[in-house]
Amino acid sequence: MRYPFQDLSVTDPAERARYTAAMDRVLAHGQLLLGPEVTDFEAAMAEACGRRSAVGSGSGTAALYLALRAAGVGPGNEVVVPALSWPATAGAVLVTGATPVLVDVTDDMTLDPAAAEAAVTSRTKALLPVHYNGRLAAMDTLADLARRRALWLIEDAAQAFGAERDGRPAGNWGHLACFSMNPMKVLAAVGEAGAVVTDDPALDAALRTLRYNGMRDRETCVTPAFNSRLDTVQAAVLLERLPGAAAAAAHRRALAAAYDAALPDAAARPVTARERDDVVFMYPVLHDARDALQAALAQKGVEAKTRAGDHLPAQPGLAGARITDAPRAAALAGRALCLPVHAGMTLDDARSVADLVGEAVREVAA
Ligand SMILES: Cc1ncc(COP(=O)(O)O)c(C=O)c1O
Repeated sequence: MRYPFQDLSVTDPAERARYTAAMDRVLAHGQLLLGPEVTDFEAAMAEACGRRSAVGSGSGTAALYLALRAAGVGPGNEVVVPALSWPATAGAVLVTGATPVLVDVTDDMTLDPAAAEAAVTSRTKALLPVHYNGRLAAMDTLADLARRRALWLIEDAAQAFGAERDGRPAGNWGHLACFSMNPMKVLAAVGEAGAVVTDDPALDAALRTLRYNGMRDRETCVTPAFNSRLDTVQAAVLLERLPGAAAAAAHRRALAAAYDAALPDAAARPVTARERDDVVFMYPVLHDARDALQAALAQKGVEAKTRAGDHLPAQPGLAGARITDAPRAAALAGRALCLPVHAGMTLDDARSVADLVGEAVREVAA
């Protein structure tokens, strides 16, 4: 492939040397579990999100599970989840014993606040909007709904570190907000990693207990829970990467702008992105003959990916969810094809890919 979808290698020797030096420091001090880098990273992450505290976790999925448990979500409860997300969002709800209620999205692929309100019942305990593709959900409206119906508001900000709306960062709205820092993310570890941010000291304490087998201290287990702590080595790399996250997000926005300018109308964007605000975790285009377009692009050396797995009502493993009518999520998932967006791409690469999309669109139409 001339234009791979992702490239997770670190090719710059100076950058790689910084990461290996950070890992080497951890090996030298030997506090491999909850070492000082975890504490430092948690402080930096909380500050970046404008929150009082952050609790590192072993993955974004673990972050979601911890946040739901800290909010007391469990059997008998319902949690409103958009029908379009990575399966982890609904899967984490099911693992707590609660029922995810899959609700439609708007044209920007994020949770539809009106559909969310219509799905609220006496069993609803929380709203779990997703900042899909690095685009913030309608958080002011959803926060108002959560307040009016006395619900927990938990952000799935896994794809959105660095996204903003009117200067307010992703992770700043919910009682709890969850991040993934897996290697595909804009702020990326070199393995699995996640975090939950909050302003509430009681929630912070609950998260810390839950992330280590429900241990309140070394003597007392107060609830059954997994071991899902953030590794010190990953925290050390994240501390090195955090200062560059804004530049990484800016590069992705520039790639998206290059695509916006050069793509043919027949490969439409789902929405007009607010370039200033989104982090462009993914750049989807919509096309009726999505699979044929993907195949034509592969012939031309462009690796593009579908989001079929993100259509949650269609996932057999999520059959325990309550499914509401979600035609937009189905239509968007059926038409979306994501183009490469990553740190190793140049703006010329994006223009070349856009030209190849133009060729592929013409071929598919012929
Ligand atoms: C929206 C969303 N939620 C949750 C997750 C889970 O994060 P992780 O892969 O770190 O477990 C992801 C992962 O990509 C995601 O995109």
